[in-house]
Amino acid sequence: MRMYDIIYKKRMGNELTREEIDYFVRGYTNGDIPDYQISALLMAICFSSMNKNETLYLTDAMLRSGDTVDLSSIDGICADKHSTGGVGDKTTLIVAPIVSSLGVKIAKMSGRGLGFTGGTVDKLESIDGYKTSLSSSEFLSVVKENGICVVGQSGNLAPADKKLYALRDVTATVDSIPLIASSIMSKKLASGADTIVLDVKTGSGAFMKSKDDSLALARAMVEIGKGFGKNVRALITNMDEPLGYNIGNSLEVMEAIQILKGYKKNDLYTLCIELSANMVSASLGIDISTARELCVNSVESGNALCKMKEWITAQGGDSSLIDDEERLTVSPYKRELLAERDGYISKICAETVGEASMLLGAGRKTKDDEIDLGAGIVLKVKIGHLVRKNEPLALLYSSDESLFLSATEKLSKAFAYSDEPPKKEPLIYETIT
Ligand code: URA
Repeated sequence: MRMYDIIYKKRMGNELTREEIDYFVRGYTNGDIPDYQISALLMAICFSSMNKNETLYLTDAMLRSGDTVDLSSIDGICADKHSTGGVGDKTTLIVAPIVSSLGVKIAKMSGRGLGFTGGTVDKLESIDGYKTSLSSSEFLSVVKENGICVVGQSGNLAPADKKLYALRDVTATVDSIPLIASSIMSKKLASGADTIVLDVKTGSGAFMKSKDDSLALARAMVEIGKGFGKNVRALITNMDEPLGYNIGNSLEVMEAIQILKGYKKNDLYTLCIELSANMVSASLGIDISTARELCVNSVESGNALCKMKEWITAQGGDSSLIDDEERLTVSPYKRELLAERDGYISKICAETVGEASMLLGAGRKTKDDEIDLGAGIVLKVKIGHLVRKNEPLALLYSSDESLFLSATEKLSKAFAYSDEPPKKEPLIYETIT
């Protein structure tokens, strides 16, 4: 087989065979095929796309390129979730204990964030003592004893995807639906869960800005999951404004605890109930409305909060922080952002809020950057709120006072005002089963 022929075949819009796909994935991962040939192939895929079979073969080749997690020794069903990312998205911290409190196992590997704020693993590190790195036997025994364990992604999970994604990032070849779908699903499938619920974000703060693209990505991922015999559902959800009120690592953990205590019934709560209900419904084979009721009861009875405490304790974290979430460390300096005029808040651009939180130190620009876990933003308003001039719109936190000037300037650009109440977009557009 010659790499030249594979590139030419795809450039002409033809279907690649499983053998050709295996050949280039294996060859690139072990260093036999150079970046320039894979770059040319990736560009050809961006223009000519890949059909369902090619996408399945690519996913399979990438998932087989490294370690896979074997969860077969765990009794019952293991469920996982994945979000395509967004600003203020702390859903895993809420969904995992709700679902686990209902008897569905959570054996989850989460990533670190590159971008606006940290990933779930960074957020969890704002809890003193929480261990994000466990050996595979420790990981399995925590799941067996407590029904829940969330750790950082193993270094050797789908290494082919890691290499290909890094190349796509610098060759303008990220935004191809088959490449994104196979990249995400190779990692999810390698993590071993039986049921997977995908939260595909759409809007200004999302990776996919248009609803049509989000829908196409969701369909492609559900198809891949089905091809591997998994129970997969996808929700298309709104990411025009940040999810919930808190953005930043320890600030997001704080809000997650408040949701589980039943203090807040906002968009974040609604989305978490819907994601949890889909995980429970798909895992236990019950209808969605019964599953939704179980999830609401789990929060209202305090069972989900108890499960969160068990989980944090089992992974070495200080679970007394859950009794008093205000003790979580936040950065020492604060600034308020005030409304520029009277009016309804008609827009809170999630992407701009994310950029402002990164300027405060809450996110990484490059993978080696240190995160300020206590930095971030607490919104005081959401779209549709009526405000008066000089009323606080947000509180900014940082450990470095010199960062406030640029962050406040950026954050003020996220808000728009109107004289009439704005039309509110739905939180959940569609569920694909
Ligand atoms: N996230 C991934 O893991 N892969 C992609 O290709 C895009 C987003």
